[in-house]
Amino acid sequence: MSADMSEALSTIPPERIPRHIAIIMDGNGRWAAQRGLPRMAGHQQGVTNLREVINACLEFGIKYLTVFAFSTENWGRPEYELKGLKQIFLDTFQKEFQEISKHGVKILHIGQREGLGDDILNCIDYAVENSKNNSDLVFTVAINYGSRNEIKHAVKKIIADGIQEDQISEELIGSYLFTNGVPDPDMVVRTSGEMRLSNFLLWQSAYSEWVFSKTYWPDYGRGELLKSIQEYAGRDRRFGKLTSQ
Ligand code: FPP
Repeated sequence: MSADMSEALSTIPPERIPRHIAIIMDGNGRWAAQRGLPRMAGHQQGVTNLREVINACLEFGIKYLTVFAFSTENWGRPEYELKGLKQIFLDTFQKEFQEISKHGVKILHIGQREGLGDDILNCIDYAVENSKNNSDLVFTVAINYGSRNEIKHAVKKIIADGIQEDQISEELIGSYLFTNGVPDPDMVVRTSGEMRLSNFLLWQSAYSEWVFSKTYWPDYGRGELLKSIQEYAGRDRRFGKLTSQ
């Protein structure tokens, strides 16, 4: 970390550093178009940047990072892009994520397994198994994820398990979501200037602070992440109560 950045971080009280950061990585296509490059070049640069952000989280002492890589709605993209993204996910799980698991990162997947090919599922399962004893940073990748789909799965499972009406609580519902075991995000970032939730962690982000950055994902590196953390640190989180309570 540069001296400037570590100084900026040291001015933030530790309890104001988010424990869990979730990110909607948006703007790869526009980043590429701006440079006259094919969309895939943007996604490729998105992977390079993801590595930088994971390393920044390790350096900054962030405990949980969740990223939205592919939504249940993204299947509507053109065939060439779906093929390209699939190859990028396979390569990233086999190379980058193998590497980060050597550095204390525990990898998790959220999203519907059905619909993802065996090749992707095998890569995901291997990365999860291979990193399960790590604990410096819990890194969750959302692939084939949508919040409404997640809630539908949870309701079906609750019924299949024969859960009775008087047993239904917010905690129980949370435990049936794909994110079971991971605390709710403190801060959710969306890059590229879009200001939509896009079906991401709807239940879990009920009290998260949203931070919107105009920067396209491939350029949202360490410095940008630090700026978002500073913005978060300046927020007054009340959880529906009053500041003085
Ligand atoms: C948004 O750009 C990004 C995606 C649809 C997801 C792909 C993400 C990556 C390749 C980053 C690396 C992640 C992993 C897990 C390997 P966009 O295509 O929506 O951009 P646009 O809105 O500018 O067209």
